[in-house]
Amino acid sequence: MADGKRVLDLYGGHCVNTLGAGDEGLRAAVDAQWRALSFQTNLVDLEARERFLEAFGANLPDASDWSVFLSNSGAEANENALKAAFSATGRVRVVAFGGAFHGRTAAAGALTDKARAFPMAPFETARIRFGDFDAATEAIDERVACVFLEPIQSMAGVVMPPDGWLEHLRERCDATGALLAFDEVQTGNGRLGAPFAAQHFGVVPDLITTAKGAAGGLPVGVTVMREAVAERVDASRFGSTFGGGPVVLAAATEVARRIAAPGFLENVKAAGVALRKAAVVGPVRDVRGAGLLLGLVLDPAVAAGAVRDHLLREGVLVGTAADPSVVRLSPPLTLDPKDAEALRRGLASFDRTSMEVKA
Ligand SMILES: Cc1ncc(COP(=O)(O)O)c(C=O)c1O
Repeated sequence: MADGKRVLDLYGGHCVNTLGAGDEGLRAAVDAQWRALSFQTNLVDLEARERFLEAFGANLPDASDWSVFLSNSGAEANENALKAAFSATGRVRVVAFGGAFHGRTAAAGALTDKARAFPMAPFETARIRFGDFDAATEAIDERVACVFLEPIQSMAGVVMPPDGWLEHLRERCDATGALLAFDEVQTGNGRLGAPFAAQHFGVVPDLITTAKGAAGGLPVGVTVMREAVAERVDASRFGSTFGGGPVVLAAATEVARRIAAPGFLENVKAAGVALRKAAVVGPVRDVRGAGLLLGLVLDPAVAAGAVRDHLLREGVLVGTAADPSVVRLSPPLTLDPKDAEALRRGLASFDRTSMEVKA
């Protein structure tokens, strides 16, 4: 930190530092690409792009069946997925969910929970409760271009999909011709102990977006469309100056390869289990989430901000969420399971007399 104090980072730059800080493999990949070709327009074929598509594509469900468009952020990846859905279906309505967070630009913000939404929606949006099966049955009809969701709602407080929920949405989309879009900006890139939530939950959508951890700290947005969707999309509508630049893609290739390397996802699972075991102490009543996207559910009398501030004083960095009773963990996926002990110690020393009682 600025004062020179060392902290254990259990927030990971908010799901960004997939490989941890100062990873040597990532440095070498970026350095080599900078020397070989620092930047070139994506109008020409780039070896860096070919390498990325091979490594990233191998981590997708049904590896060969996807088309990829590259941009610079999660919001942009989502905007492009929406554009693809409108273009492919000829429809203009989107079903989104309370609690959702999809970014702060106009279209992505229109799908975000009302509290953080863009002030106006540029298309028709039906926002229903996450996990409301009946509302989904009613809202997903032949007018809907796509159903857009985070498979696990992170900002909302690491809200898990109820049993059968993702399958239900898949079925409704199949029945009505709507496309199913997973925003995997947080849940993708190995975070859940599988390459993507699609594999973790065994439900494959038509569109996947990701960003944050995909390039381990450099800005990237990835919009993935089933080939059958991409074939119906007007490609002239897509473009980006920086999207798909060689240095960023060299980083993203390194991340994708590391996720696929033996033992990497096993470590995500083992570290997740260790954190879960360590965390139910002091103010924590329950832990939810999957892999290394975890929500510590606090005693209702305790504010998450007070626990975060206490842990930071103890040398452990965590995040909060929209739900004021939830502390969020999204550490580097290379976390040593033994480091869970520092979390346990920090939580155990939380002084209940200094608890911030909620109004
Ligand atoms: C699930 C999800 N989608 C989209 C975004 C937007 O990503 P970006 O900030 O890169 O635009 C975020 C950012 O927090 C996110 O958590």
